Amino acid sequence: MSVITSRKDGEVLVVTSNNPPVNALGQAVRAGLADAMAAAAADDAIKAVVIACEGRTFFAGADITEFGKPPVGPSLPEVIDMIEASAKPVVAAIHGTALGGGLEVALGCHYRLAVASAKLGLPEVKLGILPGAGGTQRLPRVVGVAEALPMIVTGNPIPAARAEKIGLVDKLVAEDGLVESGIAHARAVIGNAEHPVSSRRTDRIGEIASDSDFFDEFRKAQMRRLKGFEAPEACIEAVKAAIDLPFEDGVKKERELFSRLVSGSQSKALRHVFFAERAAAKIDDIPKDTPVLPVRKVGILGAGTMGGGIAMNFLTAGYPVTIVEREQEALDRGVSIVRKNYERSAAKGRFTDAQVRTAMNLLTPTLDYNDLADCDLVIEAVFENMDVKKEVFRTLDGIVKDGAILASNTSYLNIDEMAAATRRPGSVLGLHFFSPANVMRLLEIVRAEKTDPAVLKTAMDLSKKIGKVAVVAGVCFGFIGNRMLSPRQRAAQSIILQGAKPWDVDKALTDFGMPMGPFQMSDLAGLDLGWDKANSKGETIRDVLCERDRRGQKTGKGYYDYDENRRPTPSKEVEAVIAEFAARSGLEQRQFSPQEIRERLLFPMINEGAKILEEGMAQRASDIDTVWINGYGWPAYTGGPMFWADTIGLDKVVEGLKVHARSAGAEPDISRLLEDRAAKGETFN
Ligand code: 3HC
Ligand code: NAI
Repeated sequence: MSVITSRKDGEVLVVTSNNPPVNALGQAVRAGLADAMAAAAADDAIKAVVIACEGRTFFAGADITEFGKPPVGPSLPEVIDMIEASAKPVVAAIHGTALGGGLEVALGCHYRLAVASAKLGLPEVKLGILPGAGGTQRLPRVVGVAEALPMIVTGNPIPAARAEKIGLVDKLVAEDGLVESGIAHARAVIGNAEHPVSSRRTDRIGEIASDSDFFDEFRKAQMRRLKGFEAPEACIEAVKAAIDLPFEDGVKKERELFSRLVSGSQSKALRHVFFAERAAAKIDDIPKDTPVLPVRKVGILGAGTMGGGIAMNFLTAGYPVTIVEREQEALDRGVSIVRKNYERSAAKGRFTDAQVRTAMNLLTPTLDYNDLADCDLVIEAVFENMDVKKEVFRTLDGIVKDGAILASNTSYLNIDEMAAATRRPGSVLGLHFFSPANVMRLLEIVRAEKTDPAVLKTAMDLSKKIGKVAVVAGVCFGFIGNRMLSPRQRAAQSIILQGAKPWDVDKALTDFGMPMGPFQMSDLAGLDLGWDKANSKGETIRDVLCERDRRGQKTGKGYYDYDENRRPTPSKEVEAVIAEFAARSGLEQRQFSPQEIRERLLFPMINEGAKILEEGMAQRASDIDTVWINGYGWPAYTGGPMFWADTIGLDKVVEGLKVHARSAGAEPDISRLLEDRAAKGETFN
């Protein structure tokens, strides 16, 4: 059956797309739409057209899998121009998500109706491109630059109600009978002398001049999230063109920018990231018909840094949560932090007061473990100590109902050992959230030796419901993310013994796009994490700094000195400590370029990633990329560590690892998988 079908309802031609799963505007859809528009034009009995989609959504955009392949006509801009040029009014009937090319189709239509649950947006920027089918030119003409610019530059969709308010949608209609509403609307406008044409509108585009402060202020406000990305600036340029140029010239400008971006390395990387996130949700070796277990009520043990944040994820998603602590004081503190976090978000407009109340009402704080008995899932976030964890699992096993899932948020410890403390090892797994747990998108789902497929699948399903990007990891020290962090930390310690300064090391990584470098990270987390004061003998730089009470930001000094506003400056004292260790090491002192620092720190991570793959601790290389982008802020525009390695060439990575190890006086320990692929000229992805 064709992906585009048409039927007549009196004088109205109803054109329907059925291209699961998201009605992407692939070649067959575009050709079908063009044919339908031609048929409508040729048929005198037809006076109006409704465009609608079957399945879960209106067109969710161009077909991303077609990018980078030779284009096959008709192009999307051609199809949209055809729709807009139709003498017969065309009504878009929108449900689900009208995104990217999908919203551009809707903008080409003369009228737009949507159900209240629909969302509309231009997310192209997230793929490293900009709307390429007239979106940057039509949207500002329809809703004004002040509304259009953030939509185009951030890529975040808006709900239908907001779309109606700003004039993007003409009318909200009932969820049931969308197509009928579209037909009725079409009938009602047939007699109108004129129909609104987005590209011809001039009523709003003049509201903001292209040289006004508005753009600089917007850039400033968005600076942090845009840093390093090429597409947002191109989006701004395109919107300015919409203000300054006639539509036809603006579209030319848009197309020029689109072509440049779509063939560039950032867009390639960001497309990889898009598909990597979706691939991560697939668990390869479990049967297709594996059931998802019902999770209606969640228990959390420990209301510390992580417990509270984890609770918020579930509360926000509407799950009742029971949180257990050892003492009233810790419980009260934990709950008050949750409340404060919600209130702060509400103050920023992210939640309404009613939503905060609803979430807080779902939270039951208690000191009694027995209150966890009827939970379907319990996540422990108590101290990182195996004896404590085992005791907790033993206790939970005796209290929580049969069949319920027991999970650990441990950062490093062995889940199999915890599972062995219970009589239900099949129901035990790791759910490793990242700090701050209510903010960071990553969830590592740690599959223990005996974890049931249904338990694993349930965790994956749940991760979507609480808005996380989940990746399955095997049981190994630090799982995927933290395991790869260790070699980076070691490399950072080793390079400063050869003359690189901590601040130069940090800068090389932040210039690359990481949110912070290894020494900034140590100062933030505290140098004394895992440091044993009683047994400290000044054997490492860290020991000496801790002994001098340079334990990081919390003591006002670590690798850096901090002023009262926590602004860092390089420390002479630290330099002297390092110089002493360096002299004792006998290593030659020299300068390092930012590129050499990056390779020195990041290549060992790739090597560790390859070992993780080799051992089957990650299902696929792209999962590792997903972990690092969503859990540690690795710059998405490089595609993640493994994709980045592919773009450099694995042979160069292997060569670099050898050179760097020897320069630090060590023997390279290179993953066999990495070496094999490099030798064969292969890539990870
Ligand atoms: N092209 C190709 N495949 C797509 C796609 C697209 N635009 N959007 C989604 N898919 C695929 C996914 O890869 C996934 O495939 P899989 O099942 O094989 O893994 C499947 O559709 C379902 O996607 P999700 O798992 O993401 O489903 P959700 O229900 O969670 O989300 C969605 C649906 C919100 C529509 C989400 O898929 C999404 O955000 N899609 C991308 C939207 C987008 O970026 N559109 C702009 C495209 S670029 C463009 O339009 C250029 C134009 O300006 C010229
Ligand atoms: P935390 O010290 O802030 O909180 C732990 C809480 O657990 C304390 O409030 C403590 O009173 C409570 N607790 C201890 N034993 C208990 C018991 N038997 N019953 C009930 N409550 C108990 O620690 P944090 O940072 O929240 O870490 C918790 C776990 O999460 C650890 O396993 C840690 O490795 C892991 N983790 C921590 C991350 C972080 O950045 N802090 C990131 C990811 C995981």
